Amino acid sequence: MGSTERTLDLIGVGVFMSSSIQKVPVADLRVGMYISALDRPWLETPFIMQGFHIESREDVDVVAEYCEYVYVDMARKAKASAHSSDVSDVLSPKGKIRYQNTSSIDAEHKRILGAFHSARRLTKTLLDDIRLGGAINTEHAKQMVNDCVQSVIRHPDALMWMAKIRNESEYTAEHCLNVCILAVAFGRQLGMPEEELHKLGLCGLLHDVGKMRIPSEVLNKPTRLSIDEMRIMMSHTIQGRNLLISTSGIYSGVIDVAYSHHERVDGKGYPRKLAGQGISVFSKIIAIVDAYDAMTADRCYQVAKTSTEALKIIYQERGTHFDEMLALKFLQTVGLYPPGSIVELHSGAVGIVVETNHKLRHLPKVLLVRDSEKNPLEKDIYIDLAQIESGELSKDHLIKQVWKDRSFGVTLRQYQERGLELRR
Ligand SMILES: [Fe+2]
Repeated sequence: MGSTERTLDLIGVGVFMSSSIQKVPVADLRVGMYISALDRPWLETPFIMQGFHIESREDVDVVAEYCEYVYVDMARKAKASAHSSDVSDVLSPKGKIRYQNTSSIDAEHKRILGAFHSARRLTKTLLDDIRLGGAINTEHAKQMVNDCVQSVIRHPDALMWMAKIRNESEYTAEHCLNVCILAVAFGRQLGMPEEELHKLGLCGLLHDVGKMRIPSEVLNKPTRLSIDEMRIMMSHTIQGRNLLISTSGIYSGVIDVAYSHHERVDGKGYPRKLAGQGISVFSKIIAIVDAYDAMTADRCYQVAKTSTEALKIIYQERGTHFDEMLALKFLQTVGLYPPGSIVELHSGAVGIVVETNHKLRHLPKVLLVRDSEKNPLEKDIYIDLAQIESGELSKDHLIKQVWKDRSFGVTLRQYQERGLELRR
């Protein structure tokens, strides 16, 4: 690396300073410019990626809130990518809907907990029925999706927290419900109308139903699959399509997503090797959400990645595996510190992220559960990290690192079971 270059790292995506980089006052920023560095540490800003294109006036305004000047890489012009979707088809004729939270986070946790547990049970029953050769219970599926959509519209953070609680032995059912929840939260962030959120949620819930027709010795094999076994596993897309075609009264987009959620925008996916615009927006969305949820789960053959590590992979595979624009939007939806993340602060204290701050995304509300020596607190303390901006909290409270569930003896399930007490 030359002397004029330095490596910066936020989510591990390296950016190199070179001669094409110029210092630009924020007032001179224009849509299409590529920001490669800021005038302050990235961790003190809400930007999830180190290095991004300015896509709109809104982006300029956000940068202006944090910086006086930035470093722009003049060699990296924004280009209309063949691998970026136009989502206008799935928005309402009036355009993007801007949802506001209509429930407090505590109230939403209490309200949705029962429905969430029954949705997990029902998803398992629904999949077991299919495995035994039965039909898909579409009424149950629609009811579960409706509960998810209503909760996510009121406040997405409660279900996003719950989706992080995992029971390894129930992977497939939990994964299907998680993909439903995350897809609806993603659709809400994209500004889709409620009707589309229902369709998208159903696509998420049922995307992998074909797996119920894969022999369990292949589906649950703890070691690497042989080429023949891989071929059988990949056939779950075709099996899913066939199953759903013969299901009456179901939204037809679900068939397409079950068939196409393993396609890649570069044409290297399966089963049809579709590329770019040949893949529907819903299939592209489910491909991203499916990959994210699968990567963040412990399996017999893989250790779970943290959300940050999984987002980094999605970022790196944008434009090849995943639709470029949708991948970037998904990073914004999940954010650096999604609800349910175990986070260590610079002080050494440990907490659980409860509520995202959409303006100051690096400063969520956190339930502190361990002191700086990692000992349990006598009483958990609910703090709003946004108070760092106003000076009411010290910078010691900035988040240093995200850890996986069960780190430092902190288990999400335990907090869920005893009810979330958000004492201030
Ligand atoms: Fe799949």
